[in-house]
Amino acid sequence: MKPLGPIPPYFDTLDGELAIGGRTASALVKEAGDTPLFVYSRDAIARRIGELRAALPDRVRIHYAMKANPYAPLLEFIADHVDGLDIASGGELVMAREAGFLPREISFAGPGKRDRELHAAIKAGVTINLESEGEAERALATGKVLGVAPRLAIRVNPSFEMRGSGMKMGGGAKPFGIDEERVPALARKLVDAGAHWRGFHIYTGSQALDAEAIIETQANVLTLASRLASEAGVDVPHLNMGGGFGIPYFDRDTPLDIKAVGAALSERFADLPHNLLNTDFAIELGRYLVGEAGVYLCRIVDRKVSHDTTYLVTDGGLHHQLAASGNFGTVVRRNYPAAIASRYASAPEEVVNIVGCLCTPLDRLADQAHLPRADVGDLVAVFCAGAYGASASPSAFLGQGAAKEMLV
Ligand SMILES: Cc1ncc(COP(=O)(O)O)c(C=O)c1O
Repeated sequence: MKPLGPIPPYFDTLDGELAIGGRTASALVKEAGDTPLFVYSRDAIARRIGELRAALPDRVRIHYAMKANPYAPLLEFIADHVDGLDIASGGELVMAREAGFLPREISFAGPGKRDRELHAAIKAGVTINLESEGEAERALATGKVLGVAPRLAIRVNPSFEMRGSGMKMGGGAKPFGIDEERVPALARKLVDAGAHWRGFHIYTGSQALDAEAIIETQANVLTLASRLASEAGVDVPHLNMGGGFGIPYFDRDTPLDIKAVGAALSERFADLPHNLLNTDFAIELGRYLVGEAGVYLCRIVDRKVSHDTTYLVTDGGLHHQLAASGNFGTVVRRNYPAAIASRYASAPEEVVNIVGCLCTPLDRLADQAHLPRADVGDLVAVFCAGAYGASASPSAFLGQGAAKEMLV
């Protein structure tokens, strides 16, 4: 038997079933018309952002990194709850505008921005977080062609990384950002070239659950931004301090102590270096805002036994839930939180493997899980499906097609 990850605190039991947003899994599937289905809870997202705002100093703006989940209704909903948006492509810019975000609330980070993407973003008035000197040249040239001062910030590749983060985005050679020692010269150059200077973006990692590591990183980020600005002789109108707040996916993961992070940041803000006194601060978060608000529902289409092992074969799989299958940046596969949604109130009775419908041994949703007895027709729920699910999985693989999505 292998443990399942912890089920997020946003769900209930109704008529013996899993309920999301006050409605049973089977009712939601009925309304959607079919499985597999991603259900995202408005209430869970709003609660999460409310808790975050209560914990953080008022001065910090919360930006949503839409790469985590770009589902249009979710984006429209979250637009009313956050202060800004981080995009990573021209395609995301189109979706962001359609969802109602204003260009001045949007920043565009990510390596490999094409000329046409820079053009569209600069024309709209979006802030570009520059990833290289070459990109800076192209952005300045685009501004000239358009006859506008482009809103430019520098994404810094700091010499430090975030301890304990699942994915490291700073420290050493990286395709992201500009090595910190080269930043002052570029900042000076941008200001001298007449750009609308926006400051720095310092993103160091993702999926950190250790508050101490985040506190340490935020302190390093503030020190670095202040030093770079002094060396360049520029001010810092805006500082995107990164994010990296993680969520518990696996057994024995504990939730991030957001109150500790907020308290430490308040202390830092009370003692800011002089050149950050007038700075606007932002953090950018993806999975922390939406990850635990989503549930992936799929249906059992077969129940079979092989060498004494029971398999529940579903109509879902890694083509929608690559991360839960263990194939999205994990070294050792562990179980996400999962349940038999249609028998949510029943006691565990058997140990089963839940797999997807793809003919690859990689397609696993839960290994050796202790669950209520389930049969063909029952619904399986995989939790923590609100981020890097539908849009980050190979839905075209084997002609399976996309899952349905729903915001409740
Ligand atoms: C620049 C940047 N911002 C934000 C994120 C979102 O990370 P998360 O969803 O872990 O908050 C990432 C993730 O890779 C990123 O690279």
